[in-house]
Amino acid sequence: MNEMSSENLQSPDSLKPVNHDIGAGRGVFISTYGCQMNVNDSERMYSILEMSNFMPVESAEEASLIIINSCSVREKPVHKVYSEVGTYRELKKKNPDLLIGVGGCVGQQEKEKLIKTQPLIDFVFGTDAIDELPQTLQTLLGRQSKKEKVVNAQFHHREPYHVDTLVRNPGVSTFVNITKGCDNFCTFCVVPFTRGREKSRPFQHIMTDIHSLVKRGVKEVTLVGQNVNSYKSDCGIDFPDLLKKVALETGLERLRFTTSHPKDYNQKLMDVLALCQHKLCDYVHLPFQSGNTRILERMNRGYTREEYLEKIRQIKATIPNVVLSTDIIVGFPGETEEEFLDTVSMVKEVGFETIFAFKYSPRPFTKAARFEDQIDEVTKSRRLNHLFDVHNKLSFEWVKKYEGQTLQILVDKAEGENKLSGRSTQNKVTYFEGPESLVGQTVPVKIHKALPNVLRGVIEQ
Ligand code: SAH
Ligand code: SF4
Ligand code: F3S
Repeated sequence: MNEMSSENLQSPDSLKPVNHDIGAGRGVFISTYGCQMNVNDSERMYSILEMSNFMPVESAEEASLIIINSCSVREKPVHKVYSEVGTYRELKKKNPDLLIGVGGCVGQQEKEKLIKTQPLIDFVFGTDAIDELPQTLQTLLGRQSKKEKVVNAQFHHREPYHVDTLVRNPGVSTFVNITKGCDNFCTFCVVPFTRGREKSRPFQHIMTDIHSLVKRGVKEVTLVGQNVNSYKSDCGIDFPDLLKKVALETGLERLRFTTSHPKDYNQKLMDVLALCQHKLCDYVHLPFQSGNTRILERMNRGYTREEYLEKIRQIKATIPNVVLSTDIIVGFPGETEEEFLDTVSMVKEVGFETIFAFKYSPRPFTKAARFEDQIDEVTKSRRLNHLFDVHNKLSFEWVKKYEGQTLQILVDKAEGENKLSGRSTQNKVTYFEGPESLVGQTVPVKIHKALPNVLRGVIEQ
């Protein structure tokens, strides 16, 4: 057992001025798990590290610095981190100067425990410590012995919350972070513990970021946060106000947002969706988690089945042809077969074209992990398979409606010779032929084949 002594654990010296050449051209590779927040955070890490003269590389083999940006929302995230770190053992043998760090939600959750059990790891940093990566690396590069490790996993309680959108190549579509953390404490969820209390970015910062992204050629922005529709800015601007301003006062073609919480989906938001529909797209992702009110209460979700269905009725009345997707948990503690069937019936009743469904997984610090009526794995797997079976059959039918329709596709990628892909306003990935010069443009595409997750078609002349 390679037990660490606590005097080997250091904090980065954040008072020390940072040398802007600490990277000295070293390659950095980031391996990213989890949600859009993490995707966005990895982009920020690359940009911050580039400013300190690290060079982004395409594979771990080329890197002198490897960062695992981890997720702990489900399954065995700590094991995933260890097994990935294990794959770098040979690289570390070949290059003893290779630095391996763990960030993201597992870093925040486990802190120095990660280093104590996995000596290949040199540093751990939490979800609030991304901006201090240069200091963390400066401390590591100046260490006397490779046994000295750095852990930086304190939450900051700075108000308001500052984070610049730092994207190297934003392309056609990119994320802009508007909130961080979560105060909802759904009883199954680790996020309030790994991302801390909810904070909103100042309104003006968001607008400045979006204006500059538009200047760089971005056509579509997705506003991201754990719970975007509880956004509340320093100057009293709420989420519907923010959406309206971004939709009407920037040059974006399309605006999306994720994730929203059903309890905060109010009339004011519906009114803005109606007013700005030309930009706001006919696609809504609204997680319901369970179709049974008793389970929803035990999850602390703050709405009943009927209340959720009422919001869906309003959304459908507000946005013609809206496409809906959702997140679902099966096998939550105490869920009976009948209660599970309420979830299945909800999927049919609402007609979600896409579902993201998961087996309940007990998470550290959470209330539901301590409930005594946990469901066995076999039952959870059976329920998940049943739900996917039902949904698959239905979604194949539902998407047939696209065949023959002409959809407006924002082209985001050239996929090889004369092959393009893009997304419809309803967020359907669509493949068709055309020249690379169309990337960034919106073109009419007539759909001839519709599968649940992809559409194929031809550009209409
Ligand atoms: N903030 C978002 C969800 C963030 S986590 C929201 O409130 O909807 C993304 C999804 O992971 C959740 O919607 C939920 O379906 C799933 N999830 C979260 N914790 C889970 C757990 N302990 N077990 C299984 N699925 C979980
Ligand atoms: Fe987790 Fe619930 Fe917050 Fe979503 S709203 S991040 S599920 S606690
Ligand atoms: Fe995972 Fe953390 Fe996102 S737990 S889902 S990376 S907020």
